[in-house]
Order: sequence, then C-alpha cells, then structure tokens
Amino acid sequence: MASTRFSYLTGLRSSTSGDSYDPSTPQNLSAEGTTLFAQYDLDGVRDAVTPDVIARRAPDLWRYHELLPVQDPDRVHGFGEGMTPLIDLPALGKKLGIPRLKLKDESPLPTGTFKARGAAVGVARAAELGLRRLAMPTNGNAGAAWATYCARYGIELAAIMPVDAPAITRSEARFAGADVSLIDGLISDAGRAVGSLVARGEHFDVSTLKEPYRVEGKKTMGLEIAEQLGWRVPDVILYPTGGGVGLIGICKALRELQRLGWIPSDKMPRLVSVQASGCDPIVRAFEAGAENVEPLADTKTLAFGVNVPTPVLGAPSVLDAVRQTGGTAVRVSDEDAVASLRTIAEEEGLLPCPEGATTIAAAAELRRTGWIAEDDEVVLLNTGAGNKYPDVVGVTLPLLDREGAPTGIRM
Ligand SMILES: Cc1ncc(COP(=O)(O)O)c(C=O)c1O
Repeated sequence: MASTRFSYLTGLRSSTSGDSYDPSTPQNLSAEGTTLFAQYDLDGVRDAVTPDVIARRAPDLWRYHELLPVQDPDRVHGFGEGMTPLIDLPALGKKLGIPRLKLKDESPLPTGTFKARGAAVGVARAAELGLRRLAMPTNGNAGAAWATYCARYGIELAAIMPVDAPAITRSEARFAGADVSLIDGLISDAGRAVGSLVARGEHFDVSTLKEPYRVEGKKTMGLEIAEQLGWRVPDVILYPTGGGVGLIGICKALRELQRLGWIPSDKMPRLVSVQASGCDPIVRAFEAGAENVEPLADTKTLAFGVNVPTPVLGAPSVLDAVRQTGGTAVRVSDEDAVASLRTIAEEEGLLPCPEGATTIAAAAELRRTGWIAEDDEVVLLNTGAGNKYPDVVGVTLPLLDREGAPTGIRM
C-alpha cells in the first residue's frame, strides 16, 4: 500500500450553495459571499495510507499531507511545525473535579501560537498557486505567524492590526519583513482597511475564512488530538473562539477521519466555544438560537485574540458544529481567565496565553453545573504561549541591592 499522491484535494465547495470551485487557481469567497471549504478524495486517501504509515512519519503536521491542500512535496519549507503535546493535567483536573483533563498545548509552535498551523499551510499553498503579495487584518498572532512563513517562502505580506494588539506581535511581523500598519480600532476596522487595500488590485486577501486553506492548517489540531488518543476522540473539547477557524477546523478534521473510518463514526466530542464576557457574539447567538451573530461594537478583553466583534463568516459554521455535537457556548470574564492562568501555573507549571486560560475557567464552570461529568475526558485548547503577553503575566518582585539587601520592589 503506497501513497501515490501527496495531496488528495479534489475541489472547493461553497458552505452555503454546495457549488464547486476550481482549486487550481486562487479563490476567495463563493458567489454568495461565504467560505469555500477544501474537499478530498477520501476513498483515495484510505487506499493510499493507513494510521500505521502515518505513525512512522516525521512528528509534524505534514504527516497528514494526503488531507492537506499542498500538491507538491517540494513546496513544503516548514520549521517542523505541529505534533504539539497533549498533556495530562492531574493536579488541575483533581482541583476541578475532572480527573481526565488534558491540554493540547500549542505554545511550542513557531511564533508561539497555533496560528503557525494556518500560516504553514496557507502560505505554502499560496506559494504553490503563484501568489506573491498577501494582505490580512490580524489581532497580532496571525500576523506574526503569516509574516514568518511569508519570509520563509519569499512572499510579501501587508498586515493591519489594532494598536492594542500584543506589542511583541508587531515586532515579530516587522522583523520578518511584513508591511505592518496599526489601526486605532478593532480587527473589524482592520478588516475594512484590508478590503480597501485589496481593492487596489495588488494584494490577495487572506483574511480569516476568506480563503480556503488557513482552516486546513488549523484542522491538524483535530487530526493530532485523534491520533494522540489512539485514533479516538475525547468527550469534550473546549476552544477559545474569535473568528472560529480553529473550532471549524477541528470539527472538519474529525468528520473527515470518521468518513475515512479511522475513528469511530458514532462519537463526536461535544465542542465548546469559549468566548470572553467582553466579546461574546457567538455565545449570544447560541443562547438566542440564532444562526449567525449580531455584530458588536466596542468589545474589550485582555484575551486579545478572541476580541472579534463581528465573526460573520465563521459563526454559522461554529454554531453548527457546537449544536450538531451537543456542545455549548460559554463566556468567561477576564478576571476568571487570569485567575485560571495563575491556577494552572501553580498546579501544573504551565503558562498558557489568556485565550487558552479562558477554557480552564469555562471547564470549571461547566463542571460546577454538571454539564461536564466527573468521568468525562476533556481536552482544553491552549492556543499560545503566555510569554507573548507580558502585560497580563507581569509580576511585582522585591529588588535587592548588590549585597542582597531589599531596596524596594520592581515590576
Ligand atoms: C491566542 C489565540 N487564541 C485564539 C484565537 C481565536 O482564533 P480563531 O479564529 O480560531 O477562533 C486567536 C486569534 O487571533 C488567538 O490569537
């Protein structure tokens, strides 16, 4: 049984009309203005490769190349991204009353967040399709990741980010050669500015869910979780949701694995969309039984990556995934997120990003209400490294003089 093709991509399909689009040319949205999703010849994949073959491949996300869109193996110039650890959390799990608690820790990825997955695949595919100049709005982490991969592939990137986005992400993107602008507003304002830039005709728009391949990279989180659990799924996955790409990707991955027969077809994890109290459009839509979000204004949270007030492209698929899997959507205050960050650091020695920490607070609350049962196996997504948020994880310490005598305190 030998793999005959690197990718089994067959086409792109509109998430609303079901119409097909040609994957051999660059594509943005469908005629109805909705996301195009990659389709694969899963019968071909099943004939070409087995989980045993995958187990022998290098520990990075390209081990799933049959289920990724890049056609030519010579196109892949990554940094070994992927196969992040799935870590048992015995002490935190005991404290929360969830003994089978685990953390999928994305902080070891290049640029310190899960955004590297979308960038690794999205930029490689953009290069393969001959694109030379990309543009995106970003809450910071995606801009850092896409700039890094664009540098690697010799592609130009214009990134527009809110002035309040984590400062380190500006430097990461700028040092990697991106053309970075700050906007005095939110990512929705940055999105409009990118729209004007793209309209001038020199850049290809790689905004969240406006091109089909970023979500394919993020899909690998779901593939890895299934493989790391021995080709099965947990009972619950909690995901910090902004635009929704990661949650949509995880759901897509697990559905593809079910159709391949690599995981049981009768069980999906209950998917939980976690948002911040200061920016909760998806939670509001879930509670209202709505199919899309009502745009919000002036949203605010220190979990900056999930400060997405108008996730209109992703929300319908997120809400669908949550509802179809019997999941739920919950909001978490910044205070509870920071308290959870401290708790996991004390109990387990891990320093997640504040977005990731929201999933801990959400799991605690869902356990309190009984929505999560004691014997549920629960996976939290930590989407990035706490180190990237020095303002959130800053501490005050005693300052000693050279003889070791206390002289004051220092932030
Ligand atoms: C650290 C972090 N977590 C979560 C998210 C939300 O991502 P998604 O678009 O997959 O919902 C972001 C987006 O910027 C982020 O930077």
